[in-house]
Amino acid sequence: MSNLIEKKGMSSFSEYLDSIKRNNKDEITMLINKLTTNYTYFYREENHFKYLRDVILPHEEKNNKTKVLNIWSAGCSSGEEPYTLAMVLDDYFKFMKDKWKIQIYATDISENVLSKARDGIYSVESIKNLPESYKKRYFTKTKDGKYQVLPEIKKQITFKVFNLMDPVVARNKYDVIFCRNVMIYFNAETKINIVNKFYDATKAGGYLMIGHAETIQRGKSKYLYVNPAIYKKE
Ligand SMILES: C[S@@+](CC[C@H](N)C(=O)[O-])C[C@H]1O[C@@H](n2cnc3c(N)ncnc32)[C@H](O)[C@@H]1O
Repeated sequence: MSNLIEKKGMSSFSEYLDSIKRNNKDEITMLINKLTTNYTYFYREENHFKYLRDVILPHEEKNNKTKVLNIWSAGCSSGEEPYTLAMVLDDYFKFMKDKWKIQIYATDISENVLSKARDGIYSVESIKNLPESYKKRYFTKTKDGKYQVLPEIKKQITFKVFNLMDPVVARNKYDVIFCRNVMIYFNAETKINIVNKFYDATKAGGYLMIGHAETIQRGKSKYLYVNPAIYKKE
């Protein structure tokens, strides 16, 4: 942060804050980009993806007559989480996928990370946890040894800026919401407000996935605890 202040030719944090208060939109965007922790990688906390593959998708395949699936990756950072989701779904449905309308909505407060997500180019380190078959099937290799997500995986995802402090307007409710390693930085009240907004935006029978290092206080939410970091709306 002191680096940033110096670069701007300012002498103190309060001088910097004053410049922001003058409501400079670019400045606010830059501050958000500096303050948020964006660390993420493909197939992070794989239990969630296994639960999706082994429990949620078989149930949907059997019971979801509309063949519409809406998934929200809230706090998606640079895209590794929603791309992993798109790959798991593609791998599950295979040639049946055309019969389904699958929409993955991926949001973050930081335009910086979303722009990286839209590019869809990743290091070998970032994809190292993915099954080998996914690495082969869903990426092309770039000249400089990076991995680029295939267009047919990309097109399943809509990336948008969204601040979780804002009201959630869900035209279509979600079958599954992933909000992992995001609320960890929020205080208890903010967190429960957000969880309640997620609850209203979840379909009956749908799920909320949070990070394994996070918890939802017992009795504070209407979600039912099903497994570590997995909650269900009955
Ligand atoms: C550590 S990353 C988590 C990425 C991914 N969900 C995962 O588990 O690997 C946290 C993300 O939350 C985003 N974030 C923080 N506060 C937010 C807010 N108020 N609204 C939306 N996104 C937020 C950050 O920009 C960051 O990209």
